[in-house]
Amino acid sequence: MLSHTDIDRVFFSVTNLSDLDDEKLRSVLDENSFAIITGLITEDEILEGKKALRNAFSIDNDKPATGESPESIQKNYQKLSIGGGELREKDLSKCVRTFYNPIFSPDIYGLRNAFRQAAMIRNIVTGFDKDFAIDSVQDGFWTASRVHHYPAGGGHMAEHVDDYVPTVVEKYGVDAYFQPLIVMSQKGDDDSCDYRKGGGYFVIDGERVYYDSFLKMGTIVIYNTKILHGVEEVDPDIAFRQDNLSGRCSGLVTMYRDFSMK
Ligand SMILES: [Fe+2]
Repeated sequence: MLSHTDIDRVFFSVTNLSDLDDEKLRSVLDENSFAIITGLITEDEILEGKKALRNAFSIDNDKPATGESPESIQKNYQKLSIGGGELREKDLSKCVRTFYNPIFSPDIYGLRNAFRQAAMIRNIVTGFDKDFAIDSVQDGFWTASRVHHYPAGGGHMAEHVDDYVPTVVEKYGVDAYFQPLIVMSQKGDDDSCDYRKGGGYFVIDGERVYYDSFLKMGTIVIYNTKILHGVEEVDPDIAFRQDNLSGRCSGLVTMYRDFSMK
């Protein structure tokens, strides 16, 4: 378990990015492999975003787990990924629905500010210009802002380290990649919580840290993608239903290579 001291050491609270001590954030990440930022995204923004997501949601929009064109995910696009190594190069078992919602596509969930804040954090901690590859494809990269939904009844992603780092290293000499993640669900036994078991974690000192259980919605967690992370089966004691948006959500702003130009 992380102690309060562990959390205090990696904790930043700012209401404006210009108030963030970039150097301190980088050194905290170097020393601890993760950091926590509150104040840039409100809980209400996330609650409103999830409401919009629920209103717009239809299982008829669930596209297949694989085979989409690179262009298709540069627009609002919803897919349900189930399966493991037979479907893709990387043997990574998953059950997750993805709502791609790039910043340059229509803002159908009202999450524009949340994604923008998280993407700027990504750029700051990775050493890019603050606005790099956010509003458009830039230098062959773009921001795949999206919501991941891990359905109750077994939504998961097997433990892994991220493998796209070499591309960024090769092109820019960045020697670590830090992934900011927007907390969008609460884990706990209270009825107000979104789920009780499993959920997103990263591994610190051999232990899984389930951050949804102690961070509020709208918090940005940043972790080094070289540390093990995953999503443990969410509420496996509930029956899986494709038409139900219960379970766990998170927001991501990964920098993707633009393959549509090839
Ligand atoms: Fe990952």
